[in-house]
Amino acid sequence: MTRARASSPSPALGARLLAWYDRFGRKDLPWQANATPYRVWVSEIMLQQTQVATVIPYYLRFIERFPDVDVLACATLDEVLHLWTGLGYYARARNLHRAACIIREHYHGELPRDIGLLMQLPGIGRSTAGALLALAHGEHHAILDGNVKRVLARFHAIAGWPGAPAVEKKLWALAEAHLPAARLRDYTQAFMDLGATLCTRGQPACARCPLAHDCAAYADGRATDFPSPKPCAAKPVRRITFVMLRNKEGAVLLMQRPPAGIWGGLWSFPECTHRSGRKIQRWCESELGFIVEHVERHGPLHHTFSHFHLDILPMVAEVTGQRPAVMEIRPAIWYNITKPDARGLAAPVQRLLLELAKHPARKIHDANGELRKTGPRGRSSQAPAVSGRARQTDF
Ligand code: ADE
Repeated sequence: MTRARASSPSPALGARLLAWYDRFGRKDLPWQANATPYRVWVSEIMLQQTQVATVIPYYLRFIERFPDVDVLACATLDEVLHLWTGLGYYARARNLHRAACIIREHYHGELPRDIGLLMQLPGIGRSTAGALLALAHGEHHAILDGNVKRVLARFHAIAGWPGAPAVEKKLWALAEAHLPAARLRDYTQAFMDLGATLCTRGQPACARCPLAHDCAAYADGRATDFPSPKPCAAKPVRRITFVMLRNKEGAVLLMQRPPAGIWGGLWSFPECTHRSGRKIQRWCESELGFIVEHVERHGPLHHTFSHFHLDILPMVAEVTGQRPAVMEIRPAIWYNITKPDARGLAAPVQRLLLELAKHPARKIHDANGELRKTGPRGRSSQAPAVSGRARQTDF
């Protein structure tokens, strides 16, 4: 185990960081112009676990549609999730919306300036609250996001996974101790920029780093040994089937997921665990009340969440008849894939819908919407006969 070194913070760290920032730091990010607390808040939430280049277009669209707390609070969660579609970690969007409602109701639409009150809002932890107060008001608060953790863990050669409470406590103490007396806005941005651009995870550019000459990890030639990785248990794999029900107009059935949990509040396909066409057909009838045929298997998708892998088997099923059931039980819509509605969609759902739009529905209905006989085994809504060996179509 490596001892923590340089543990009494160098007073010059802040000054060196600021001098580096003046020459190389990022000064034209969209949230840096007119850095109101609201704009900084939205950017900080989007930037959690997401890189700047990915965030920028989402941020610009979001701010245009929801320019302030009141507009955001008055929007539906669906509209908010729609603009978040593809950015991932949807709890962030739900929390942002919930917090906007609280801020409107309890703080007259202004974000509180007190760190304790900020941290009571959904989705705002100590680091985000500190970043908000430092970046929007220039206040004297430390941050400890992933970038700052990495820089400090290297600079002081702190062993242990930074998510472990004891290690995190040490890092917070160091982050506080390094704070300079002035220029908190620039210092905070500089720390994040250094972590994102030079002190990167895999290939740190130590030769260009303004902190290298007294960085403990660098001195040992061990920069990439810090921070220690999370002791990891293998992630479990969950397997599900997305049932993509298509009606005779080519619209696809989407159901809204429960508000909490994976993809909470987003629209997705009905899900089951069956993998054969015949079983899915029966499931559609018994669970959803739809009579379907031509169940078609598409190429599998894989999606990784923080705590498990999801293997998705997409199955397209053409709806040929209906018994009233599902549309009344849970929020469900027929989604027109050629003229899509503003709905929040999980990334794999959006991808599958785009692919479906390229593959027109099979012509199994005639001009009057009646079922056509389809070949020698002519199928009908009364006698659905889909082969259990569903067809594989890769997209
Ligand atoms: N990561 C988190 N906050 C950031 C910011 N304000 N600028 C760049 N990267 C960040």
